[in-house]
Amino acid sequence: MSLLLIAKNRDMNPWKDALLKEDPNLDVEIWPRVENKERVTFAVSWKHPYNVLDGYPNLNVVHSLGAGVDHILNDEAIATPVKIGRMVIPSLKAQMAEYVLNAIQNYRFHTSRYVDQKREGFWSRHDQVPKENCTVGILGLGEIGEVAAESLLMNGYPVLGWSRSKKEMNGIQTFSENELNSFLSHTNILVCLLPLTKETRGILELDLFKQLKQPAFLINAARGGHLIEEDLIYALDTGVLTGACLDVFEEEPLPNHHLFWNRPKIMITPHVASITDPKEASALIVENYKRSLSGMKLKYEVDRENGY
Ligand code: NAP
Ligand code: GLV
Repeated sequence: MSLLLIAKNRDMNPWKDALLKEDPNLDVEIWPRVENKERVTFAVSWKHPYNVLDGYPNLNVVHSLGAGVDHILNDEAIATPVKIGRMVIPSLKAQMAEYVLNAIQNYRFHTSRYVDQKREGFWSRHDQVPKENCTVGILGLGEIGEVAAESLLMNGYPVLGWSRSKKEMNGIQTFSENELNSFLSHTNILVCLLPLTKETRGILELDLFKQLKQPAFLINAARGGHLIEEDLIYALDTGVLTGACLDVFEEEPLPNHHLFWNRPKIMITPHVASITDPKEASALIVENYKRSLSGMKLKYEVDRENGY
């Protein structure tokens, strides 16, 4: 039996090294140089090429290198009996919590504006956005959303959270799926930490932005497919939103000609909010590999019906 590492445009050797350090007896292959496809039962993927994995007749599991699995579920070549695993490790949650806090502080203290002003040699002061105008509403109170919410609360921000099922969290007002309107009407800073599914695709659109409390700001660190891009431009141009911080895009890398690049109200980071560390992730991958060899349920196994 062997474990396959498969990704486009990414050096997977550090992953192989980390896995072998975790268990030197593993047989690890890196796509596309695979000696024996029949021996592969477990694939670890980050944005793998589509219509390739159906060439592996004994594949039982496709495991994401990250928290998200939309890149796996969208590949029709991964048939239903194949189980899907995903990454749930402390550093992914902690990094995202820091990213969101940083994006909020940048918005409140006009950091990007001052960077632009410095480039132009221009002295001009802007009022901080007061905390009372910074109620943060988090879309998605899952593994990552929950930790981000708690960290913001500890930093003195009023925090709300929205998820399919209602959560109980100390100090955080939570809303369930059918309470979205009420959640939005109390939110100034909307943070998207949802998985990309057929229900959540395009959720960040103009009518939703219009329901936010003013002043309103958007942070999308989940997936580009959550956002209707032209609605964001319109919302920024008409004052529905004051600004936005985006880490993820429908097309990555964001193309050179894209409208977002020239918009000062949009802060852009290149999908770096939270990056999986091979050393930390290897323990979970090896555990799930061994579970799969024993026919056990995976840790953090994805529910294909829900899409996350
Ligand atoms: P998760 O544990 O699966 O949590 C997902 C949350 O979203 C849950 O609270 C779930 O509700 C909620 N949800 C799902 N569908 C919903 C719907 N239709 N309506 C309302 N709530 C819904 O996921 P996670 O590990 O926190 O990760 C979230 C996403 O972050 C990933 O899928 C990935 O796309 C993104 N991410 C991005 C980066 C980056 O670097 N930019 C890094 C890591 C992750 P229930 O709790 O009720 O099920
Ligand atoms: C990153 O985008 C992840 O899903 O972990």
